[in-house]
Amino acid sequence: MQTLQDLFMNQLKDIYYAEKEIIKTLPKMAGAASQSSLKKAFERHLEESERHIERLEQVFEMMGEKASGKKCEAIEGIIDEGKEFIKNGKKFNPDVNDAGLIAAAQRVEHYEIAVYGTLRAFAEHLGQEHAAELLQRTLNEEKQADEKLTGIAGSTINEKAADA
Ligand SMILES: [Fe+2]
Ligand SMILES: [Fe+2]
Repeated sequence: MQTLQDLFMNQLKDIYYAEKEIIKTLPKMAGAASQSSLKKAFERHLEESERHIERLEQVFEMMGEKASGKKCEAIEGIIDEGKEFIKNGKKFNPDVNDAGLIAAAQRVEHYEIAVYGTLRAFAEHLGQEHAAELLQRTLNEEKQADEKLTGIAGSTINEKAADA
């Protein structure tokens, strides 16, 4: 890896892999959620995540490469923990279960926010303004998804989970 562009491509492959894993996991998260607002939030973010993948494919194209993923151990670990939680969640109190799902999902969102922030900055440095704009759009959606989860957790779930 010699140039900022090499590093950019490396990180792009990393998040492409991550997004593909995320769209496989979000339906399971929605299925495991008890509260309908949380279920809907996961379903909506699944649709957004499909757009994130499309935008990444556009960025690959702008960089003159075919879209490809590179296995990312970090997101793999975060998602595996979430899956483990889902597996055991049936035994949990539903409100506590929802709170745990939110905790798992927010780890994923923060990971994405970190990567998209870096990629956007790199794209700007590389003079790839259109790519930077696409990455910023996704970054905004990740931040909104994170805030939405905080809102759901704060408004109802954590309170109910605390009473359980
Ligand atoms: Fe995403
Ligand atoms: Fe996300």
